[in-house]
Amino acid sequence: MLQKKLNALLANYEVMFHKLQTYHWYVGGATFYVDHEKLELFFEQALQNVDLIAEKILMLGGKPLATMRDMLDQATIGEASDQDVSQEAAFQSVRDDFKVLLADVVDLKKLADDEDNYLISAFADTLIEQLYKDLWMLGQVLA
Ligand SMILES: [Fe+2]
Repeated sequence: MLQKKLNALLANYEVMFHKLQTYHWYVGGATFYVDHEKLELFFEQALQNVDLIAEKILMLGGKPLATMRDMLDQATIGEASDQDVSQEAAFQSVRDDFKVLLADVVDLKKLADDEDNYLISAFADTLIEQLYKDLWMLGQVLA
């Protein structure tokens, strides 16, 4: 069950990585330089989380999802399209998706605690802290 939840989170972070990179490419407007840079930091962080989640699954003796098809099937976060996007629309969308990820990670934390899995519980804490900080900062941008 824990491995299944980790794979679902892996799928969402994989899609999130690609979506953030798409926004990095397609965002436009007066604040392009800053937005382009920040979206790059976000997609690098998402990609790092993909790897960390996959390695946790391996540490538990499980098998991380491998194909893009499986990732898309399991993800609840949708992809971005090949359309120009404003800073506000891009960051609104990212904020909505980060809220989804936070809910996923909180569920993961609860399950890990139920199973006395300190590795996953502690890992979930790091993601929760990261997501709270990113959501606060996105709130400042979108205020
Ligand atoms: Fe780039």
